Amino acid sequence: MGIGRVGAARPVSEPATAAFSKRRLADLDLSEGATVLVRVDFNVPLAGGEVADDARIRAALPTIEALCARGARLVLCSHLGRPKGHDPETSLAPASRRLRELLGTRVNQAPEVVGPEVRRGVARLEPGSVLVLENTRWEPGETANDPELGHELASLAEAYVNDAFGAAHRAHASTAGVAEHLPAAAGLLLEREVTTLEGLVESPRRPLVVVLGGAKVSDKIALIERFLDRADAVLIGGAMCFAFFRAQGLETGSSLAEEEGVELARRALDHAERSHGRLVLPVDIVAGERFSADAEPRGLDGVEVPDGLMGLDIGPRTAAAYAQEIAAAGSVFWNGPMGAFELEPFAAGTRAVAEAVAEAEGTTVVGGGDSAAALAAFGLADRVTHLSTGGGAALELLEGKALPGVEALDDV
Ligand code: 3PG
Repeated sequence: MGIGRVGAARPVSEPATAAFSKRRLADLDLSEGATVLVRVDFNVPLAGGEVADDARIRAALPTIEALCARGARLVLCSHLGRPKGHDPETSLAPASRRLRELLGTRVNQAPEVVGPEVRRGVARLEPGSVLVLENTRWEPGETANDPELGHELASLAEAYVNDAFGAAHRAHASTAGVAEHLPAAAGLLLEREVTTLEGLVESPRRPLVVVLGGAKVSDKIALIERFLDRADAVLIGGAMCFAFFRAQGLETGSSLAEEEGVELARRALDHAERSHGRLVLPVDIVAGERFSADAEPRGLDGVEVPDGLMGLDIGPRTAAAYAQEIAAAGSVFWNGPMGAFELEPFAAGTRAVAEAVAEAEGTTVVGGGDSAAALAAFGLADRVTHLSTGGGAALELLEGKALPGVEALDDV
Protein backbone atom coordinates (compact mmCIF):
# COMPACT_ATOMS: atom_id res chain seq x y z
CA MET A 1 0.00 0.00 0.00
CA GLY A 2 1.92 3.03 -1.20
CA ILE A 3 1.70 6.37 0.52
CA GLY A 4 2.13 7.74 -3.01
CA ARG A 5 -1.47 6.86 -3.73
CA VAL A 6 -2.74 9.56 -1.37
CA GLY A 7 -4.14 12.40 -3.48
CA ALA A 8 -4.44 10.40 -6.70
CA ALA A 9 -7.92 9.23 -7.74
CA ARG A 10 -8.33 5.63 -6.66
CA PRO A 11 -8.78 2.99 -9.34
CA VAL A 12 -12.43 2.05 -9.66
CA SER A 13 -13.08 -1.19 -7.80
CA GLU A 14 -16.57 -2.44 -8.49
CA PRO A 15 -18.45 -3.30 -5.31
CA ALA A 16 -20.34 -6.56 -4.86
CA THR A 17 -23.92 -5.50 -5.57
CA ALA A 18 -27.24 -7.04 -4.56
CA ALA A 19 -30.03 -7.98 -6.99
CA PHE A 20 -32.54 -5.20 -7.71
CA SER A 21 -36.22 -6.09 -7.79
CA LYS A 22 -37.69 -2.76 -8.89
CA ARG A 23 -38.35 -1.37 -12.35
CA ARG A 24 -35.17 0.20 -13.74
CA LEU A 25 -34.79 3.34 -15.83
CA ALA A 26 -33.94 1.28 -18.92
CA ASP A 27 -37.15 -0.77 -18.47
CA LEU A 28 -39.37 2.31 -18.56
CA ASP A 29 -41.37 2.33 -21.78
CA LEU A 30 -41.37 5.94 -23.00
CA SER A 31 -43.04 7.27 -26.12
CA GLU A 32 -41.20 10.02 -28.07
CA GLY A 33 -41.47 13.30 -26.12
CA ALA A 34 -43.05 11.66 -23.05
CA THR A 35 -43.18 13.85 -19.94
CA VAL A 36 -41.37 12.25 -16.98
CA LEU A 37 -41.58 13.46 -13.38
CA VAL A 38 -38.17 12.89 -11.75
CA ARG A 39 -37.80 13.15 -7.95
CA VAL A 40 -34.22 14.18 -7.16
CA ASP A 41 -32.56 15.03 -3.85
CA PHE A 42 -31.38 18.60 -4.40
CA ASN A 43 -31.36 19.20 -0.63
CA VAL A 44 -28.00 20.94 -0.94
CA PRO A 45 -26.21 23.46 1.29
CA LEU A 46 -26.57 27.09 0.16
CA ALA A 47 -24.25 30.02 0.86
CA GLY A 48 -24.93 33.56 -0.27
CA GLY A 49 -27.86 32.37 -2.40
CA GLU A 50 -25.74 29.86 -4.35
CA VAL A 51 -25.13 26.13 -4.06
CA ALA A 52 -22.18 25.53 -1.71
CA ASP A 53 -21.77 21.83 -2.51
CA ASP A 54 -23.19 20.46 -5.76
CA ALA A 55 -22.35 16.77 -5.13
CA ARG A 56 -26.03 15.76 -4.98
CA ILE A 57 -26.81 17.66 -8.21
CA ARG A 58 -23.90 16.00 -10.02
CA ALA A 59 -24.99 12.61 -8.69
CA ALA A 60 -28.41 13.05 -10.38
CA LEU A 61 -26.90 13.96 -13.78
CA PRO A 62 -26.63 10.42 -15.23
CA THR A 63 -30.39 9.88 -14.84
CA ILE A 64 -31.29 13.36 -16.12
CA GLU A 65 -28.94 13.02 -19.11
CA ALA A 66 -30.16 9.49 -19.94
CA LEU A 67 -33.79 10.67 -20.00
CA CYS A 68 -32.96 13.81 -22.02
CA ALA A 69 -31.07 11.63 -24.52
CA ARG A 70 -34.24 9.56 -24.92
CA GLY A 71 -36.13 12.71 -25.92
CA ALA A 72 -38.15 12.87 -22.70
CA ARG A 73 -39.50 16.16 -21.35
CA LEU A 74 -38.40 16.34 -17.71
CA VAL A 75 -40.20 17.77 -14.71
CA LEU A 76 -37.81 17.70 -11.73
CA CYS A 77 -38.92 17.99 -8.13
CA SER A 78 -37.09 18.03 -4.79
CA HIS A 79 -37.28 19.31 -1.25
CA LEU A 80 -34.66 21.67 0.19
CA GLY A 81 -34.37 22.11 3.95
CA ARG A 82 -37.36 21.89 6.27
CA PRO A 83 -39.34 25.06 5.45
CA LYS A 84 -42.69 25.90 6.96
CA GLY A 85 -44.63 27.08 3.91
CA HIS A 86 -43.38 29.25 1.03
CA ASP A 87 -39.99 30.31 2.36
CA PRO A 88 -38.01 32.01 -0.44
CA GLU A 89 -34.77 31.19 1.42
CA THR A 90 -35.39 27.56 0.50
CA SER A 91 -36.20 28.12 -3.19
CA LEU A 92 -34.87 25.51 -5.61
CA ALA A 93 -33.71 28.37 -7.90
CA PRO A 94 -30.00 28.18 -6.92
CA ALA A 95 -30.03 24.41 -7.51
CA SER A 96 -31.69 24.80 -10.90
CA ARG A 97 -29.15 27.52 -11.87
CA ARG A 98 -26.37 25.08 -10.99
CA LEU A 99 -28.08 22.33 -12.96
CA ARG A 100 -28.34 24.67 -15.97
CA GLU A 101 -24.57 25.33 -15.75
CA LEU A 102 -23.86 21.61 -15.62
CA LEU A 103 -26.34 20.57 -18.33
CA GLY A 104 -26.39 23.49 -20.75
CA THR A 105 -29.28 25.87 -21.34
CA ARG A 106 -32.30 23.58 -21.25
CA VAL A 107 -33.33 24.16 -17.61
CA ASN A 108 -36.15 26.43 -16.38
CA GLN A 109 -37.42 27.13 -12.87
CA ALA A 110 -41.16 27.02 -12.08
CA PRO A 111 -42.49 29.52 -9.49
CA GLU A 112 -44.61 26.93 -7.63
CA VAL A 113 -44.81 23.21 -6.90
CA VAL A 114 -48.19 22.70 -8.55
CA GLY A 115 -50.84 24.97 -10.11
CA PRO A 116 -51.73 26.65 -13.41
CA GLU A 117 -48.33 28.31 -13.90
CA VAL A 118 -46.62 24.94 -13.50
CA ARG A 119 -49.02 23.34 -16.01
CA ARG A 120 -48.21 26.07 -18.55
CA GLY A 121 -44.48 25.47 -18.01
CA VAL A 122 -44.89 21.74 -18.54
CA ALA A 123 -46.91 22.33 -21.74
CA ARG A 124 -44.07 24.50 -23.11
CA LEU A 125 -41.36 21.86 -22.44
CA GLU A 126 -39.41 20.71 -25.50
CA PRO A 127 -38.08 17.13 -25.74
CA GLY A 128 -34.74 16.97 -23.91
CA SER A 129 -35.48 20.01 -21.76
CA VAL A 130 -36.10 20.37 -18.00
CA LEU A 131 -38.52 22.25 -15.75
CA VAL A 132 -37.59 22.33 -12.05
CA LEU A 133 -40.58 22.66 -9.70
CA GLU A 134 -40.31 24.70 -6.52
CA ASN A 135 -39.44 23.13 -3.15
CA THR A 136 -41.98 20.32 -2.61
CA ARG A 137 -42.04 21.11 1.14
CA TRP A 138 -43.63 24.47 0.39
CA GLU A 139 -46.80 22.38 0.02
CA PRO A 140 -48.11 21.14 3.40
CA GLY A 141 -49.36 17.98 1.67
CA GLU A 142 -45.79 16.89 0.87
CA THR A 143 -44.65 15.60 4.27
CA ALA A 144 -48.20 14.45 5.09
CA ASN A 145 -48.13 12.33 1.92
CA ASP A 146 -51.46 13.91 1.01
CA PRO A 147 -53.08 11.80 -1.74
CA GLU A 148 -54.34 14.95 -3.48
CA LEU A 149 -50.84 16.35 -3.85
CA GLY A 150 -49.55 12.96 -5.02
CA HIS A 151 -52.30 12.89 -7.60
CA GLU A 152 -51.66 16.45 -8.75
CA LEU A 153 -47.93 15.83 -9.18
CA ALA A 154 -48.68 12.63 -11.10
CA SER A 155 -51.05 14.49 -13.43
CA LEU A 156 -48.08 16.51 -14.76
CA ALA A 157 -46.40 13.47 -16.36
CA GLU A 158 -46.77 10.06 -17.99
CA ALA A 159 -44.09 8.31 -15.94
CA TYR A 160 -42.32 8.76 -12.60
CA VAL A 161 -38.64 8.18 -11.81
CA ASN A 162 -37.31 8.34 -8.26
CA ASP A 163 -33.59 9.19 -8.11
CA ALA A 164 -33.76 10.81 -4.66
CA PHE A 165 -31.97 8.16 -2.63
CA GLY A 166 -31.26 10.67 0.16
CA ALA A 167 -35.02 11.12 0.69
CA ALA A 168 -36.06 7.51 0.08
CA HIS A 169 -36.64 6.94 3.82
CA ARG A 170 -39.42 9.57 3.73
CA ALA A 171 -42.98 8.50 2.85
CA HIS A 172 -43.90 11.85 1.31
CA ALA A 173 -46.18 12.79 -1.60
CA SER A 174 -43.27 13.28 -4.05
CA THR A 175 -41.31 10.20 -2.91
CA ALA A 176 -44.10 7.67 -2.32
CA GLY A 177 -47.71 8.80 -2.92
CA VAL A 178 -47.13 9.97 -6.49
CA ALA A 179 -45.82 6.54 -7.54
CA GLU A 180 -49.28 4.98 -7.10
CA HIS A 181 -50.60 6.82 -10.15
CA LEU A 182 -47.85 6.35 -12.77
CA PRO A 183 -45.45 3.73 -14.13
CA ALA A 184 -42.71 4.17 -11.51
CA ALA A 185 -39.02 3.32 -11.97
CA ALA A 186 -35.77 3.82 -10.05
CA GLY A 187 -33.23 6.33 -11.33
CA LEU A 188 -29.62 5.25 -11.87
CA LEU A 189 -28.37 6.82 -8.63
CA LEU A 190 -31.10 5.28 -6.49
CA GLU A 191 -30.47 1.86 -8.04
CA ARG A 192 -26.71 2.12 -7.48
CA GLU A 193 -27.11 3.23 -3.88
CA VAL A 194 -29.55 0.42 -3.03
CA THR A 195 -27.64 -2.38 -4.76
CA THR A 196 -24.26 -1.26 -3.36
CA LEU A 197 -25.44 -0.83 0.22
CA GLU A 198 -27.49 -4.05 0.18
CA GLY A 199 -24.55 -5.85 -1.44
CA LEU A 200 -22.39 -4.76 1.48
CA VAL A 201 -24.75 -6.46 3.93
CA GLU A 202 -25.68 -9.51 1.86
CA SER A 203 -22.53 -10.55 -0.01
CA PRO A 204 -19.52 -8.46 1.06
CA ARG A 205 -15.95 -9.32 0.13
CA ARG A 206 -14.51 -10.47 3.44
CA PRO A 207 -13.31 -9.55 5.88
CA LEU A 208 -16.02 -6.89 6.23
CA VAL A 209 -14.82 -4.16 8.57
CA VAL A 210 -17.31 -1.55 9.77
CA VAL A 211 -16.08 1.68 11.34
CA LEU A 212 -18.72 3.60 13.28
CA GLY A 213 -18.23 6.96 14.97
CA GLY A 214 -20.34 9.90 16.04
CA ALA A 215 -21.74 11.16 19.29
CA LYS A 216 -24.65 8.90 20.20
CA VAL A 217 -24.99 5.15 20.65
CA SER A 218 -28.77 5.61 20.33
CA ASP A 219 -28.33 6.77 16.70
CA LYS A 220 -26.20 3.73 15.84
CA ILE A 221 -27.36 0.85 18.04
CA ALA A 222 -29.45 -0.83 15.32
CA LEU A 223 -26.51 -0.62 12.92
CA ILE A 224 -24.00 -1.87 15.53
CA GLU A 225 -26.13 -4.92 16.31
CA ARG A 226 -26.93 -5.74 12.67
CA PHE A 227 -23.26 -5.49 11.68
CA LEU A 228 -22.09 -7.47 14.72
CA ASP A 229 -24.09 -10.34 13.20
CA ARG A 230 -22.82 -9.85 9.65
CA ALA A 231 -19.45 -8.09 9.70
CA ASP A 232 -16.12 -9.51 10.84
CA ALA A 233 -15.25 -6.49 12.96
CA VAL A 234 -17.10 -3.38 14.16
CA LEU A 235 -14.69 -0.64 15.20
CA ILE A 236 -16.11 2.06 17.46
CA GLY A 237 -14.87 5.67 17.64
CA GLY A 238 -16.27 9.13 18.31
CA ALA A 239 -17.87 10.31 21.53
CA MET A 240 -20.11 7.24 21.62
CA CYS A 241 -17.16 5.15 22.83
CA PHE A 242 -17.51 6.87 26.24
CA ALA A 243 -20.93 5.26 26.72
CA PHE A 244 -19.18 1.90 26.21
CA PHE A 245 -16.45 2.82 28.70
CA ARG A 246 -19.02 3.90 31.27
CA ALA A 247 -20.88 0.62 30.71
CA GLN A 248 -17.56 -1.08 31.56
CA GLY A 249 -17.31 0.95 34.77
CA LEU A 250 -14.48 3.19 33.56
CA GLU A 251 -13.99 6.90 34.37
CA THR A 252 -14.88 9.21 31.46
CA GLY A 253 -14.23 12.65 33.07
CA SER A 254 -16.37 15.31 31.42
CA SER A 255 -16.56 13.44 28.09
CA LEU A 256 -19.89 13.43 26.27
CA ALA A 257 -21.77 10.27 27.25
CA GLU A 258 -25.56 10.22 26.96
CA GLU A 259 -27.31 8.43 29.82
CA GLU A 260 -29.50 6.34 27.50
CA GLY A 261 -26.38 5.35 25.54
CA VAL A 262 -24.77 3.60 28.52
CA GLU A 263 -27.59 1.05 28.72
CA LEU A 264 -27.53 0.57 24.94
CA ALA A 265 -23.75 0.16 25.01
CA ARG A 266 -24.18 -2.54 27.66
CA ARG A 267 -26.68 -4.26 25.34
CA ALA A 268 -24.22 -4.07 22.42
CA LEU A 269 -21.41 -5.49 24.59
CA ASP A 270 -23.69 -8.42 25.52
CA HIS A 271 -24.66 -8.88 21.89
CA ALA A 272 -20.98 -8.99 20.93
CA GLU A 273 -20.45 -11.97 23.29
CA ARG A 274 -22.49 -14.17 20.96
CA SER A 275 -22.09 -12.45 17.58
CA HIS A 276 -20.00 -13.40 14.57
CA GLY A 277 -18.24 -10.04 14.47
CA ARG A 278 -15.74 -8.62 16.96
CA LEU A 279 -16.66 -5.37 18.72
CA VAL A 280 -13.47 -3.29 18.89
CA LEU A 281 -13.14 -0.29 21.22
CA PRO A 282 -10.35 2.33 21.39
CA VAL A 283 -7.31 1.54 23.53
CA ASP A 284 -6.16 5.14 23.92
CA ILE A 285 -7.76 8.57 23.84
CA VAL A 286 -6.74 12.17 23.17
CA ALA A 287 -8.41 14.54 25.62
CA GLY A 288 -8.68 18.29 26.11
CA GLU A 289 -9.92 20.63 28.85
CA ARG A 290 -12.73 21.89 26.64
CA PHE A 291 -14.31 21.51 23.20
CA SER A 292 -12.26 24.21 21.51
CA ALA A 293 -9.66 24.58 18.75
CA ASP A 294 -7.30 26.23 21.26
CA ALA A 295 -7.57 23.41 23.82
CA GLU A 296 -4.25 21.63 24.28
CA PRO A 297 -4.49 17.98 23.10
CA ARG A 298 -3.42 15.55 25.85
CA GLY A 299 -2.64 12.00 24.77
CA LEU A 300 -3.81 9.58 27.48
CA ASP A 301 -2.08 6.28 27.99
CA GLY A 302 -5.36 4.35 28.16
CA VAL A 303 -9.03 5.15 27.88
CA GLU A 304 -9.86 6.39 31.39
CA VAL A 305 -10.36 10.15 31.31
CA PRO A 306 -9.60 12.00 34.58
CA ASP A 307 -11.85 14.71 36.01
CA GLY A 308 -11.46 18.05 34.28
CA LEU A 309 -10.75 16.53 30.89
CA MET A 310 -12.97 15.38 28.04
CA GLY A 311 -12.09 12.79 25.41
CA LEU A 312 -12.10 14.44 21.97
CA ASP A 313 -10.36 11.94 19.68
CA ILE A 314 -9.13 8.37 19.49
CA GLY A 315 -5.43 8.04 20.31
CA PRO A 316 -2.55 7.12 17.98
CA ARG A 317 -2.41 3.44 18.98
CA THR A 318 -6.12 3.07 18.27
CA ALA A 319 -5.81 4.95 14.97
CA ALA A 320 -2.94 2.66 13.89
CA ALA A 321 -4.88 -0.49 14.87
CA TYR A 322 -8.01 0.69 13.02
CA ALA A 323 -5.93 1.58 9.94
CA GLN A 324 -4.47 -1.93 9.98
CA GLU A 325 -7.94 -3.54 10.17
CA ILE A 326 -9.08 -1.33 7.26
CA ALA A 327 -6.02 -2.21 5.15
CA ALA A 328 -6.64 -5.94 5.61
CA ALA A 329 -10.38 -5.70 4.81
CA GLY A 330 -12.09 -7.01 1.69
CA SER A 331 -14.85 -4.44 2.28
CA VAL A 332 -15.08 -1.42 4.53
CA PHE A 333 -18.10 0.60 5.59
CA TRP A 334 -17.38 3.85 7.41
CA ASN A 335 -19.93 6.12 9.07
CA GLY A 336 -19.21 8.83 11.61
CA PRO A 337 -16.06 10.73 12.65
CA MET A 338 -13.62 9.33 15.21
CA GLY A 339 -13.43 12.59 17.16
CA ALA A 340 -13.96 16.33 16.96
CA PHE A 341 -12.25 16.51 13.54
CA GLU A 342 -13.54 20.05 12.98
CA LEU A 343 -11.04 21.12 15.70
CA GLU A 344 -7.54 20.72 14.25
CA PRO A 345 -5.88 19.44 17.49
CA PHE A 346 -8.43 16.58 17.58
CA ALA A 347 -8.60 15.70 13.86
CA ALA A 348 -5.80 13.10 13.74
CA GLY A 349 -7.94 10.01 14.46
CA THR A 350 -10.55 10.85 11.82
CA ARG A 351 -7.79 11.77 9.36
CA ALA A 352 -6.02 8.44 9.96
CA VAL A 353 -9.24 6.51 9.31
CA ALA A 354 -10.05 8.61 6.21
CA GLU A 355 -6.54 8.00 4.81
CA ALA A 356 -6.71 4.28 5.56
CA VAL A 357 -10.08 4.08 3.79
CA ALA A 358 -8.67 6.04 0.82
CA GLU A 359 -5.67 3.71 0.56
CA ALA A 360 -7.52 0.44 1.16
CA GLU A 361 -7.37 -2.19 -1.57
CA GLY A 362 -10.85 -3.52 -0.73
CA THR A 363 -14.26 -2.09 -1.58
CA THR A 364 -14.86 1.07 0.45
CA VAL A 365 -18.29 2.53 1.13
CA VAL A 366 -18.81 5.73 3.11
CA GLY A 367 -22.21 6.95 4.33
CA GLY A 368 -23.38 9.94 6.31
CA GLY A 369 -22.84 13.67 6.03
CA ASP A 370 -20.09 13.96 8.68
CA SER A 371 -17.86 11.24 7.19
CA ALA A 372 -18.39 12.71 3.71
CA ALA A 373 -17.47 16.15 5.10
CA ALA A 374 -14.34 14.66 6.71
CA LEU A 375 -13.28 12.99 3.44
CA ALA A 376 -13.85 16.28 1.59
CA ALA A 377 -11.90 18.24 4.24
CA PHE A 378 -8.91 15.88 3.80
CA GLY A 379 -9.19 15.98 -0.04
CA LEU A 380 -10.06 12.27 -0.25
CA ALA A 381 -13.68 12.34 -1.46
CA ASP A 382 -12.83 10.73 -4.83
CA ARG A 383 -10.81 7.94 -3.22
CA VAL A 384 -13.64 5.65 -2.14
CA THR A 385 -15.55 3.06 -4.13
CA HIS A 386 -18.92 4.51 -3.17
CA LEU A 387 -19.71 7.72 -1.30
CA SER A 388 -23.40 7.54 -0.46
CA THR A 389 -25.54 10.62 -1.09
CA GLY A 390 -27.90 9.49 1.68
CA GLY A 391 -27.39 10.02 5.40
CA GLY A 392 -30.54 8.79 7.14
CA ALA A 393 -31.62 6.76 4.10
CA ALA A 394 -28.32 4.84 3.95
CA LEU A 395 -28.42 4.06 7.69
CA GLU A 396 -32.05 2.88 7.57
CA LEU A 397 -31.33 0.63 4.60
CA LEU A 398 -28.29 -0.86 6.33
CA GLU A 399 -30.36 -1.39 9.49
CA GLY A 400 -32.64 -3.57 7.35
CA LYS A 401 -35.59 -1.16 7.22
CA ALA A 402 -37.72 -0.89 4.07
CA LEU A 403 -37.42 2.52 2.39
CA PRO A 404 -40.85 3.90 1.36
CA GLY A 405 -39.38 5.67 -1.70
CA VAL A 406 -38.05 2.34 -2.97
CA GLU A 407 -41.04 0.23 -1.91
CA ALA A 408 -43.41 2.51 -3.86
CA LEU A 409 -41.70 1.74 -7.20
CA ASP A 410 -43.04 -0.94 -9.55
CA ASP A 411 -41.88 -4.48 -8.89
CA VAL A 412 -40.42 -6.49 -11.77
C1 3PG B 1 -31.00 14.46 3.74
O1 3PG B 1 -30.35 15.50 3.59
O2 3PG B 1 -30.66 13.58 4.56
C2 3PG B 1 -32.19 14.20 2.87
O3 3PG B 1 -32.29 15.16 1.86
C3 3PG B 1 -33.44 14.11 3.69
O4 3PG B 1 -33.72 15.34 4.30
P1 3PG B 1 -34.69 15.38 5.58
O5 3PG B 1 -33.96 14.73 6.71
O6 3PG B 1 -35.00 16.84 5.82
O7 3PG B 1 -35.94 14.59 5.22
